[in-house]
Amino acid sequence: MKDYFGYQGKVVVVTGAASGMGKATAEMLVDLGAKVYALDWAEVQIEGIEEYIHTDLSQKDSIDSAFEKIPQEIDSFFGIAGVSGVKTDFLTTVKIDLISNKYICEKILVDRMKENSSIAFMTSTAGVGWELDGNMKYYLPVVKADSWDGAVQAIESSPLVHLPGNAGYSFSKLAMNYLVAQYQAQFASQKVRVNAVLPGSTDTGLTDDFSLLIGGEDNLLEYTGYAKKLALPQEMAAPIVFLNSQCASYVSGDLMIVDYGSTIEATAKIKENPSTFTFDMIMQQMLQAIKENN
Ligand SMILES: NC(=O)c1ccc[n+]([C@@H]2O[C@H](COP(=O)([O-])OP(=O)(O)OC[C@H]3O[C@@H](n4cnc5c(N)ncnc54)[C@H](O)[C@@H]3O)[C@@H](O)[C@H]2O)c1
Repeated sequence: MKDYFGYQGKVVVVTGAASGMGKATAEMLVDLGAKVYALDWAEVQIEGIEEYIHTDLSQKDSIDSAFEKIPQEIDSFFGIAGVSGVKTDFLTTVKIDLISNKYICEKILVDRMKENSSIAFMTSTAGVGWELDGNMKYYLPVVKADSWDGAVQAIESSPLVHLPGNAGYSFSKLAMNYLVAQYQAQFASQKVRVNAVLPGSTDTGLTDDFSLLIGGEDNLLEYTGYAKKLALPQEMAAPIVFLNSQCASYVSGDLMIVDYGSTIEATAKIKENPSTFTFDMIMQQMLQAIKENN
């Protein structure tokens, strides 16, 4: 059969390959003939991968040593790992969900990808609204920082650092969607494509955390709009595998929403979606709470 996707023998890196969408993606890539380097802090147990590399994405040194074990030329990068922020503070959440991806693109992939390579992230519909000024002014200082330490410093010196970990989740997803726009422009001259899948609610290792955050699985189903069903991890793996494949060779800068219509229902005001917010609103709520406690 013709290799339409073009993954045969290609070196691909998948973060978050131990569970959920990352695992489903790595499995699909093995089936498509890719050499899969699987990065995660939990052990990856997938038959046929080239190598599992234990990596903590909240640590720059751990990322550096992981990439030393991967061949110099990387054909596709899948940035899928993430935490919800339920068990991590704001800064740690942002390091895992945003700063690690930024560092990998700007300091590693930029020198290790040749023509026709591709980058794709699993961001989120929680990052819809990334273009609003009330969000941009908070995340731009972080995404414009030119080093790992600079990005960390931008958070540490702002009131954002006091927000709960789960606010770091939406903050990171908004910023990651912006970075797709920035990177597609930066990498275009190298003929490297950059895209993202924005999943709706999906049944994975994070489902319990998201259920807890919004008051139970029934509310989580509300976010799926009229579909009223969570996606399977494989239903997010397939679109991201497509975006990084040769089948999508003229697709770059695409934020592919995969949510069974839930976002477009809200945009068209066919059904209300409770998730539209800006960081201005969150900061005002936080300042109000501090005032009330004093
Ligand atoms: N599940 C959903 O409803 C949903 C919705 C939108 C977006 N997402 C995003 O999808 C991506 C995949 O998550 P998932 O839902 O499959 O969850 P998951 O928990 O099943 O998978 C996440 C993986 O990331 C790994 N990971 C977390 N922190 C790490 C670290 N510091 N270093 C290395 N690996 C680390 C975990 O070990 C795990 O294997 C995440 O970026 C998440 O934000 C999920």
